[in-house]
Amino acid sequence: MASGCWVIVGGAYGDEGKGKIISYIALKKKPSIAVRGGVGPNAGHTVIYRGKTLKLRMLPCAVVNEKTELLLGAGVLVDPDVFFKEVQDTGSRFRTKVDRNCAIIEKRHVEMDREGHLKDVIGTTGTGTGPANADRILRVGKLAKDDERMRDYLGNVSLRINSALDRDEPVIVEGTQGALLSLYHGDYPYVTSKDVSASGICSDVGVGPKRVSEVVVVFKSFITRVGSGPLEGELSREETVKRGWQEFGSVTGRLRRAAPFNFKLARESVTLNSATQIGITKLDALFPESSHMREFDRLPKDARAFVDEIESELSTPVVYIGTGPDAEDIIERKVVSREW
Ligand code: IMP
Ligand code: MG
Repeated sequence: MASGCWVIVGGAYGDEGKGKIISYIALKKKPSIAVRGGVGPNAGHTVIYRGKTLKLRMLPCAVVNEKTELLLGAGVLVDPDVFFKEVQDTGSRFRTKVDRNCAIIEKRHVEMDREGHLKDVIGTTGTGTGPANADRILRVGKLAKDDERMRDYLGNVSLRINSALDRDEPVIVEGTQGALLSLYHGDYPYVTSKDVSASGICSDVGVGPKRVSEVVVVFKSFITRVGSGPLEGELSREETVKRGWQEFGSVTGRLRRAAPFNFKLARESVTLNSATQIGITKLDALFPESSHMREFDRLPKDARAFVDEIESELSTPVVYIGTGPDAEDIIERKVVSREW
């Protein structure tokens, strides 16, 4: 990987398949550090590599590269039970650190997130993140450094990342959810409890804007949304199933609402995130013959036309194209500079 700081974020309502794109980049570019920003264990990132499926809610998806150090930025909320289980399941005890200032999700936060307004009106994931962030803002929340269980994992994440960048080592910064669920830039109140655009994710991990070299914004070939809030062009359940677009939430198990790719929303998201590159996942859901392909020129003509349309509509190169679930079911295209 060219050294520098790569930020990888979701472009829509989460579940774009960031896990797949991030894991591929982590294997290919060999970052010395991967750091996760974003909200907390409300996210579910699926990584499939060499027949093994991981569902990650706390650890960076770069866990698939055994040489990469795994960090959680100060803005991230930690649920110790979820965290320890993932550390154990992935055997990553000795390469994982959380920022001492991460805030802790307590049982009462989870209970509050599973009733009343948050459950009935917003349709949250019920993982305690909103109430834990509320406590943090009220400055009554507990931090990782105050939690005995986290003792062996504490670090200064911002310092570690910035020192690695000073040494010209590659770093990837992983976002959660998607820009359209941002507390500031999304359809309030149907949003998550933080800003999850690229700038927010950088703030979470303590990296300043001038240090970022690439911002990869990930979209899926169609749009999904779980929970409440507007979804332009929403399909009926029947139509969703007919098109083969039915998906279930990896944290909540809920059937995701679905709609066709939306160029207008995608353009807003590209602007909001200052995207320099785009990743598109699940091209095979729209064009089944593209399944598992690894060369752009072999894609069916209509699939290539769809990718070209995204590039020209968004004036940003589509560099990563997912053609199947495995981290390696991907087409990586050379970036050629051109006039849009
Ligand atoms: P919360 O983040 O659990 O408070 O949920 C707020 C809204 O964001 C709800 O509509 C959730 O369904 C949605 N949401 C939160 N995290 C994710 C995610 O990782 N993928 C998709 N939707 C999410
Ligand atoms: Mg997800």
